[in-house]
Amino acid sequence: MNMETPTLGGLSATDPAALLAAVRQANAGTPHPRLREVLDALIRHVHAFALEVDLTPAELDLGLDFLVRIGQASGPHKNEGILLADILGLATLVQLRGARQALAQGGTEPALVGPFWRAQQPLRASGDSIATPDTPGAPLHVRGRVASLDGRPLAGARVETWQASPKGLYENQDPAQQDMNLRGAFLTDAQGRFDFHSVRPAGYPVPIDGPCGELLAAQGRGAMRPAHLHFIVVAPGHKVLATQFFDIEDPHAHEDVVFGAVGSLLRHFEADGQGGFGLDLDLRLEPGETRLPHCPLP
Ligand code: BEZ
Ligand code: FE
Repeated sequence: MNMETPTLGGLSATDPAALLAAVRQANAGTPHPRLREVLDALIRHVHAFALEVDLTPAELDLGLDFLVRIGQASGPHKNEGILLADILGLATLVQLRGARQALAQGGTEPALVGPFWRAQQPLRASGDSIATPDTPGAPLHVRGRVASLDGRPLAGARVETWQASPKGLYENQDPAQQDMNLRGAFLTDAQGRFDFHSVRPAGYPVPIDGPCGELLAAQGRGAMRPAHLHFIVVAPGHKVLATQFFDIEDPHAHEDVVFGAVGSLLRHFEADGQGGFGLDLDLRLEPGETRLPHCPLP
């Protein structure tokens, strides 16, 4: 036998380094190179984590039970897995890191997709409202322009948007709203412009009726997100932009429970002098492969 190959045979309970070496060796034959790399880092970090906190068997049981319950609480209409990545800041970290080259060149800051994007949001005509006439709230007029990093307007880009109501509820959480209310998709014109009407959204708490709610409570954290509108912009030859724009006047503007409300995404909703508000958006997309994020809701 190769003397350099660590085996479990001679392991002593006081030799975590030998155990780690054996587990890494077991992974070394993973054929897919990226999977091998990610698993190797995961193994090293979970071992280092267990050693750092001196994890007990009871605590390991508790943690594994938590993960099982995350899965059990998830289904076609709810995704606690996404919520967990969000409240741990992992989704924001990965989004911002993936965009670092674009950001250095003036690209729009991304923000997490979250669990409320729906497949097949209705395609609407430019200038339409995404709010049914019975939706309460102050009018909001959103105008925007989609361009590539070099400023070239992107015609025919698909701009998906969704938001909570002035009561802080998405339509799929609220029997008082019609199906697909406050959701829509728009195609940009030859100058890359889009234009729609809505109502000013309110902030809301993330769902706390599952294991993620227990975690937030155990941490003594709040659950609020500041008021925002979501966007996913899809243009051929460009990376998909998922982002959100936040109401800087919201009391929770600087304490988003999922850490998405970063610098340039905090905006003033400009008063129009007649009780309504306006939002002007300049969206800059990075050239690259067009890959849609996972859509959490049917
Ligand atoms: C959202 O903005 O829709 C959202 C994001 C993360 C967790 C819950 C909701
Ligand atoms: Fe949201």
